[in-house]
Amino acid sequence: MKDKIREIEQAALAEIGSSDSDRDSLEALRIKYLGRKGILAELFKKMAELPSAEKPEAGQLLNFFKNNLTKALDEKFSSSSELEKRRGGELDITLPGISERLGSRHPITKTINAICDCFISMGFMVVEGPEIETEHYNFEALNIPLEHPSRDAFDTFYLKTESSRVETGKPANRQTGKLLLRSHTSPVQAHFMENNKPPFSIIVPGRVYRPDATDASHSFMFHQVEGLAVSGKIKFSDLKGVLSVFTKQMFGKDTKMRFRPSFFPFTEPSAEVDISCVLCSGESSLTETGKPANRQTGKQHRCSMCGGKGWLEILGAGMVNPKVFENVGYDPKKVAGFAFGMGVERIAILKYGISDIRMFFENDVRFLRQF
Ligand code: PHE
Repeated sequence: MKDKIREIEQAALAEIGSSDSDRDSLEALRIKYLGRKGILAELFKKMAELPSAEKPEAGQLLNFFKNNLTKALDEKFSSSSELEKRRGGELDITLPGISERLGSRHPITKTINAICDCFISMGFMVVEGPEIETEHYNFEALNIPLEHPSRDAFDTFYLKTESSRVETGKPANRQTGKLLLRSHTSPVQAHFMENNKPPFSIIVPGRVYRPDATDASHSFMFHQVEGLAVSGKIKFSDLKGVLSVFTKQMFGKDTKMRFRPSFFPFTEPSAEVDISCVLCSGESSLTETGKPANRQTGKQHRCSMCGGKGWLEILGAGMVNPKVFENVGYDPKKVAGFAFGMGVERIAILKYGISDIRMFFENDVRFLRQF
C-alpha cells in the first residue's frame, strides 16, 4: 500500500506539473484526485481495510499526499491567475504604459504659418477679411469688369440672399447687392485700403471658393495668401526683392525665381512668378535647349513635378493698378504699391511633394500624422 500511495503521488504531481494552467484543467485535476469520488477518497477507503497496525503510517502518507497535491494545485492556479492578470484582467503596473499620440498642425495651417512668418520677418502685418463678399469688393473695387468670365455664375458661388447691410458713410452699392463667396483674397486689399492710410504692408491668409469640379489639382474651397504693400515710393524691384526672400526661405536658398509677363485687372504691370523646379532643380529644362537631360546616358527624362519645363508657377503679382487706388479713395499720383497672391495648397504640394489636393481635406490621419 505504501509503495502504491507514493507511486500515485508521483504520478499526480507530474500530471499537475505538466498540465495547462487554465482554471478548467486544474479544476478537472482537483476533482480527479481530491474530489468526493476521487483517487484519494478511493485510497482512504482502502486504508480502512488495512490491518490496524498499518493504518497510522498509511494514514499519515495519505495526508501528506493530500497536502502536497493541494499545494501543487494552488501554486499552479495562482501562477495561472497571474497570467490572466497580465492579459488585462487587473491593473499590472509593471507593464509599459499606453502613450497618447500627440496631435499636430494640419499641413495647410503649417504652410500658412510658414508663409506668414516669412513676411512678418520683413515687416508685413497679418490681416483677415470676410469670406462672404459683395460683388463690389470681389470684382468692381478690383477693376474686374462686368464682362469678365470670373463674374459668371458658373465661376463664382453666389448666395441666394441679397445683402441689406448699409454702413453709414459708405456708398450703398458696397454693402448691398449680390452676395457671393469670395473667389480670391484680393477683396481684402480694398477693405484694408478704405480703412487705413499708407504706408503699410499686409499679408492676408484665408479661404477662397470657386465652383470647380474636384480632382487631383482642383478643389471648390482652397486657401490663398494675399500680399499688399503701399507707400509713396514702392517700386517693382521691391516686389522682386520681397518675393525672392520668400521663395528662398520657403523652398531653399538655391531656389531660382523668374517673372513672366501676365495680366490681372487689379495690377499693372502684372507677372506670373515661377520658381526653379523643387524636384529636378530646373535640370530638366536643359531639354529645352536641345541638350539631353542626362548627359551621361543621353536619355531624355521628364521630371514628374515640372513636366520637363524646369519651372513651377507659384503666384501672381504686380504693381497695384491706379484704378484700384482710385476706387478706394487714394490718389494714384501720390502712392504706389505692389500686390501678390498665392495658393497655399499649391505651395504645400510643392514643399511636401504631395500628389493630390484632396488629401488635405479627407482627414485621413495616416496622411495628417506625417506633418
Ligand atoms: N487674386 C489673384 C488670383 O486669385 C492673385 C493675385 C493677387 C494676382 C494679387 C496679382 C496680385 O488669381
